[in-house]
Amino acid sequence: MGRKLKREVGNWVSGDRFWGRESDIASFTQFLDEGAHVLLIAPRRMGKTSLMREVARRIEPRFTCLFVDLERGSTAADAIVELSLAARPHANLGERIGDVFRSIGSRFHEIQVDELKIKLHDALAGDWQTKGDRMLGVLADHDRGAVIFIDELPILINRLLRTEGSRITPAGRAAADQLVSWLRAAAQRHQGHIRFVASGSIGLAPVLRQAGLSATMNGFTPFDLDPWDWDTARGCLLALASNYELELPAPAVSRILARLGFCVPHHVQMFFSHVYEDARRRGALVCTVSDVDRVYEERMLGSRGHAELDHMVERLRLVLDAERAELAFGLLSETAVAEALTPSSARMIVKEPAVLRELLGVLEHDGYLRLEDDGYRFVSGLVGDWWRKRFGFEHVSVEQRGYA
Ligand SMILES: Nc1ncnc2c1ncn2[C@@H]1O[C@H](COP(=O)(O)OP(=O)(O)OP(=O)(O)O)[C@@H](O)[C@H]1O
Ligand SMILES: [Mg+2]
Repeated sequence: MGRKLKREVGNWVSGDRFWGRESDIASFTQFLDEGAHVLLIAPRRMGKTSLMREVARRIEPRFTCLFVDLERGSTAADAIVELSLAARPHANLGERIGDVFRSIGSRFHEIQVDELKIKLHDALAGDWQTKGDRMLGVLADHDRGAVIFIDELPILINRLLRTEGSRITPAGRAAADQLVSWLRAAAQRHQGHIRFVASGSIGLAPVLRQAGLSATMNGFTPFDLDPWDWDTARGCLLALASNYELELPAPAVSRILARLGFCVPHHVQMFFSHVYEDARRRGALVCTVSDVDRVYEERMLGSRGHAELDHMVERLRLVLDAERAELAFGLLSETAVAEALTPSSARMIVKEPAVLRELLGVLEHDGYLRLEDDGYRFVSGLVGDWWRKRFGFEHVSVEQRGYA
């Protein structure tokens, strides 16, 4: 009997809910052992947060791991507050971190989180850098090495950049530059004592590129997280089926994989969850090839799939100003409707070459499109199908416009 696996459709997973990725974990850990700072890169839902959490869990005996989530942050001070809070579970660090903020001192562990947040913000007012430096000093001085996992860093940088609406402002650029430069300097200063790992659900590189800050993360080693290969995805489906006692014969498994093509772990879990719920509704815990096809059309491409797609649309709106976001949507709709986005269609939709280059850069980096012989295509057939179903109807293709 193989392993059993509990499903999880949405939140990060670790421990017994974490599937596969052994070689990713091994090479990621090796980078950390060698003292590298790592930039973890992958399109949406590939399992970046899960990988960081699982690596942290496994290396915890050797390193002090701090996990900082900047999803809700909007200022650099917020990042330092989150970093301080991440130190709280480490009893041996608390008091010294408390000392950095004199008004808190030894009460660091006793104060309720909400009150602590307010006190930290008060203490940081006007000068987050000095306090941030002192805090990193405490971590670097610790008997074990420290790893600081920073999730959703690009979201915070992006918010700093776009202080007013969706356009990048000079003040925003200065604020973003200050934070990334501080991070880069800290990473250099504490090399060998602290390792930084940065990631996020939008790509950092396109965000920095738009602000002209590309070089600021040069000291970080890029680490690409690929989709699951078919063996891993197959193993996951069988382990899920085994746990829920769903009869999932080999042809049905192969059909799921063929339908997905590109095995984003979240899509694999979603697909399983749908075929299982479908089987339960039918009152027979067995799933055939035709069940898979029906579930794909009715469920995967249905409202749950659309909720997932909404998230992707919303993330694109985050990194692009309103006008560019519309152009990017035009490129994606054209790709979905025409199967491939040819250079001439792309130029029809986005007239300015520099803007077209930038948009295709974002769409490629964040895993929407990839360049093939006949033009750009959706990386994931599922996302292409979602896009066509959702936006294809309203899209007037380049051919229909009579341009082609
Ligand atoms: N190693 C894994 N084992 C099992 N399921 C996984 C694994 N990695 C990811 N998943 C699935 O993908 C979902 C999302 O995982 P996670 O939040 O780690 O991805 P992410 O890349 O950080 O996503 P986002 O782009 O939204 O930040 C999980 O809820 C789970 O369904
Ligand atoms: Mg994530």
